[in-house]
Amino acid sequence: MSIIVENVSYTYMPGTTFAVSALDNVSLTIQDGEFVGIIGPTGSGKSTLVQHLNGLLRPTSGRVIVDGIDLSAKRVDLKKVRRHVGVIFQYPEHQLFEETVYKDIAFGPKNLGVGDDEIERRVYEAIAQVGLGKEVLGRSPFELSGGQMRRVAIAGVLAMKPTTLVLDEPAAGLDPQGRDEILSHIRDLHKQGNLTVILVSHSMEDVARLVSRVIVMDKGRVFFEGTPREVFRKKDDLKRIGLDVPQVVQLVQKLKDKGIDIRTDVLTIDEAKSEILRILGRSAQ
Ligand SMILES: Nc1ncnc2c1ncn2[C@@H]1O[C@H](COP(=O)(O)OP(=O)(O)O)[C@@H](O)[C@H]1O
Ligand SMILES: [Mg+2]
Repeated sequence: MSIIVENVSYTYMPGTTFAVSALDNVSLTIQDGEFVGIIGPTGSGKSTLVQHLNGLLRPTSGRVIVDGIDLSAKRVDLKKVRRHVGVIFQYPEHQLFEETVYKDIAFGPKNLGVGDDEIERRVYEAIAQVGLGKEVLGRSPFELSGGQMRRVAIAGVLAMKPTTLVLDEPAAGLDPQGRDEILSHIRDLHKQGNLTVILVSHSMEDVARLVSRVIVMDKGRVFFEGTPREVFRKKDDLKRIGLDVPQVVQLVQKLKDKGIDIRTDVLTIDEAKSEILRILGRSAQ
């Protein structure tokens, strides 16, 4: 199972005066089991790109191949592709519409033709996977908090048993506690479920902490890619396209500039803490 994006360009409203080139010759490969982050300034094409991964948008030119299936082929079985690649859009709670949480989570598997007993099993499993109690299943999704609604939307995709989960800004607009909860469940799903995860995020902190590879988009193109350490080392390149490095990276850089002999390739608060304690001559306990 891999996702191959090959020379994909995409234009919204082609041939009109409103035509917008959103993707310009994008190529990338995502391997089974990876946890990939996609970052880039607003309008760089991140959302357009991820909508290609389950065939929701078709490339204007180029190809997307999921698990050997060319999504632009004439008689492609998109249902099968969507069973493998679950995409959770920005503000997914806007897509909740059933009268109970149960029905909302059951909607996807039902559409795939899954039997009632199996649907029930999956609904219970999915609600637990996103850290909600089964008592919410009988409630209306619209009585829940924003963070809970979003988790229900994610559970609805998980109930389709995807092998790849694509999340477009899953933490946007949530309070810090809501963000951390959602992201820690996503991390657990990746660890335990052998799930491939593609996370679009504007939080450099979250990307630094969670992913093993980062794809940086700018103006509809892949600007560069690499491990978080490689990417966040290129502070000036990122700055040029309007992106920051994580705050903790800025902090150690400032200490370095003040003449303190500190490693500047730290990525997380924990790493910075042990590095600072090392300099102070103490152990990180
Ligand atoms: N439905 C749409 N119709 C027309 N243009 C769009 C549409 N969605 C996005 N765009 C344009 O395509 C470009 C890429 O947008 P998008 O993929 O949403 O970027 P990002 O998710 O990185 O903010 C932007 O110029 C944006 O204005
Ligand atoms: Mg977007």
